Amino acid sequence: MGILAFKALSKTLAGGRTLFANIAASIDTPSSIALIAPSGHGKSTLLRLLALLDEPSGGEVLLEDRSSAGWEPQAWRCKAAYVAQQAVMLPGSVEWNLRAFSRLHGTAFDEAGAKALMAAAGLSATGWSEDADTLSGGEKQRVSLVRSLLARPEILLLDEVTASLDRHSKDAVEKMLLALQAKSGTSLVWVTHDLEQARRVSTRIWFLADGSLWDGESEAFFRQPPTEAAAQFLKQRTMEAVD
Ligand SMILES: Nc1ncnc2c1ncn2[C@@H]1O[C@H](COP(=O)(O)OP(=O)(O)OP(=O)(O)O)[C@@H](O)[C@H]1O
Ligand SMILES: [Mg+2]
Repeated sequence: MGILAFKALSKTLAGGRTLFANIAASIDTPSSIALIAPSGHGKSTLLRLLALLDEPSGGEVLLEDRSSAGWEPQAWRCKAAYVAQQAVMLPGSVEWNLRAFSRLHGTAFDEAGAKALMAAAGLSATGWSEDADTLSGGEKQRVSLVRSLLARPEILLLDEVTASLDRHSKDAVEKMLLALQAKSGTSLVWVTHDLEQARRVSTRIWFLADGSLWDGESEAFFRQPPTEAAAQFLKQRTMEAVD
């Protein structure tokens, strides 16, 4: 059974600019995929389409081989969870945020699991009674990630979830997510501007450029850029890293 797929997917903005047209890919086995593209090229838009948080201009998205039209969006998002680029805390304490899923679905709160995830994310010292709004950007980002993980999604759509983290916390989060994948078979789609991270965490690349999607093996992408656009993108990033 397929996990997640999209077919002939297009997105044209209200102003007429086409972000991508007729792109397709499918995740058939638990995978870790890095979605990369220059800023403004539609990475967040594609992730949001895959979480049914935005409408495509054409084409379809399928979860477990069933088109989105046949899914209740809430049920879809429990399986394919979007973790936002800008973490949004619910008003209230850290614990209130962590309990969001169980509260919403009337399920038991896995306190031990939440504690373990908070520790794995480097947040064992964060008080659960603290007002979530007073946390730092990097702490909010990790609490939001732990909150998503407690829903036990099958696919995590990760929108620059380590962007405001220092190297140590970034490593902790990468390790936590890769361990989760190894243990539970959770698929990961990472949007990142950090190519070293893309290389570390993924075995597959989705590269968006000129409205189309290149889909292939991660090592091959970095070893021998498959398209002119990919070569230019990698060259530019290498030059930026030297600056
Ligand atoms: N709901 C919307 N209405 C109008 N324009 C939008 C909407 N969502 C995104 N856009 C535009 O689509 C383009 C792509 O945005 P998107 O956020 O998907 O890019 P991105 O690749 O994630 O960029 P970044 O790396 O900066 O996060 C941008 O020009 C953005 O302004
Ligand atoms: Mg984005």
